[in-house]
Amino acid sequence: MALIDEIKTRKTFGIISHPDAGKTTLTEKLLLFGGAIQIAGAVKSNKIKKHATSDFMEIERQRGISVATSVMAFNYREKKINILDTPGHKDFAEDTYRTLTAVDSAIVVIDVAKGVEDQTENLVKVCNRRSTPMIVFINKMDREGKEGFDLLEEVEEKLGMSVCPLTWPVGMGQRFKGVYNLWEQKLILFSPHGKQSAEDIIVIDDLTSSVLEEKVGDSLANTLREEIQMISDVYPAFDQEMYEEGMLNPVFFGSAINNFGVKEMLDVFVDIAPNPLPRETEERLVKPEEEKFTGFVFKIHANMDPKHRDRIAFLRITSGTFKRNTNYLHVRQEKKMKFSNPTAFMASKKSIVDEAFPGDIVGLYDSGNFKIGDAITEGEVLHFKGIPSFSPEKFRYINNANPLKSKQLNKGIEQLMDEGVAQLFIKEDSGRKIIGTVGALQYEVIAYRLENEYGAACNYEPVAVHKATWLSWDDDEAFKAFRIRRNKNMAKDKDGAYVFLADSAWSLNTVMESHPEIKFHFSSEY
Ligand code: G4P
Repeated sequence: MALIDEIKTRKTFGIISHPDAGKTTLTEKLLLFGGAIQIAGAVKSNKIKKHATSDFMEIERQRGISVATSVMAFNYREKKINILDTPGHKDFAEDTYRTLTAVDSAIVVIDVAKGVEDQTENLVKVCNRRSTPMIVFINKMDREGKEGFDLLEEVEEKLGMSVCPLTWPVGMGQRFKGVYNLWEQKLILFSPHGKQSAEDIIVIDDLTSSVLEEKVGDSLANTLREEIQMISDVYPAFDQEMYEEGMLNPVFFGSAINNFGVKEMLDVFVDIAPNPLPRETEERLVKPEEEKFTGFVFKIHANMDPKHRDRIAFLRITSGTFKRNTNYLHVRQEKKMKFSNPTAFMASKKSIVDEAFPGDIVGLYDSGNFKIGDAITEGEVLHFKGIPSFSPEKFRYINNANPLKSKQLNKGIEQLMDEGVAQLFIKEDSGRKIIGTVGALQYEVIAYRLENEYGAACNYEPVAVHKATWLSWDDDEAFKAFRIRRNKNMAKDKDGAYVFLADSAWSLNTVMESHPEIKFHFSSEY
């Protein structure tokens, strides 16, 4: 197949949600449709269980699952669909943000009873920043929850979306009768446990038809008519261009566990979701149809076997054809590399690939060469944009607890930071190392992995840091003066960029106000 045809068959997306909204269940149903798995229960939830017996065990379990579920590919209606897994636990939010740089669209799962939750809000914000096209799936309609219009309002307000429902529920909870498919003008009657038959799908292109009363009763039939009328009065019709620009979000209702409403969404997804999109680099826009291969690393996963400190770097192909055993340029290290066993993922099965195309993800075995954001090309020097670091939420000094193992500790810290487990800041005044994370769990992960994989020991010490802000300036002299004056708050990040570590929100504001000559940024890319 020609490159352009390969590109046209691909859809690469991520499912985002607050934990427990039904991401794993929905993923599984999608894979079942694609025939990538045969039985329910084959996709393991990678969430950290609330009642974990031991965090360490749980972290290891989670890591094992998340290698297997990092990318799940399946074929459906002649398309190759790649689902990129996004950890729902908020302590792993950075990982999810980075994974979202490798998708071309997203599906947002919302629990009908809980509505829009924190983690959904954070992740959608990241998608909005990049104008990622998003489809919304309101899940658990078999349970009592919020009214449809209230939910849409909440989605618009909290997620800043402009919505257009493409299916609409008929009742909910005990009275849930099904959904009306506005896209195809069909009524789809609900039957639990995915036991739907062809008779449950009824074409109703005229909503005044009495078939509606027959199927769902007088009261729900009338409500449905009124609501569909209201939808056409209030909400815009679907518009492909607006959806692709991230300005219009189709909404579907269903119940993942009952495999209900999922196929309706998948069929529309396959029709409308974008094919692999171009990617920005500092140098130029890279288009998928370019003949020459390019790609970037968006995730690094340490191998499960501590005796072999090798890792898997996940590469998103952005243009051209990636080929096995071919010499490519590792741009940051300015060195040639070739990959003898690049891995593709088909549900939980791994296999070696000879070729891969834009939108695909390949796993590269790595002995410590890669960092998140690294570019691989046929020779061109490119730096991909849009993989920023954000200010961590928590900060602690990391100390060496075994002076005989300082080399191992430094190596371990460096490699874990390359993997993106946490962020490292080195203080200007003392040279001390500060680890910044999104959640407290990462400190345990780091200590555990330093010990198990690197034979090093560390301990942590509290440090009064509220936020890390990246700095830029026009006047070098002014920056030098600032650096000297604020020396005790100055640090460098892993790439050597200057960072101001603020003690509190108040002091950050004061410093920002008193130094208009310096610009403070809340992410490393500005
Ligand atoms: P997550 O990956 O987003 O964290 O959610 P997950 O799919 O694990 O689903 C969270 C819980 O919600 C699960 O129940 C799951 O069975 C349930 N669920 C998913 N979709 C639906 C739905 O459409 N209707 C209803 N009523 N429940 C749904 P659990 O009790 O936490 O786990 P399990 O013991 O069932 O696996």
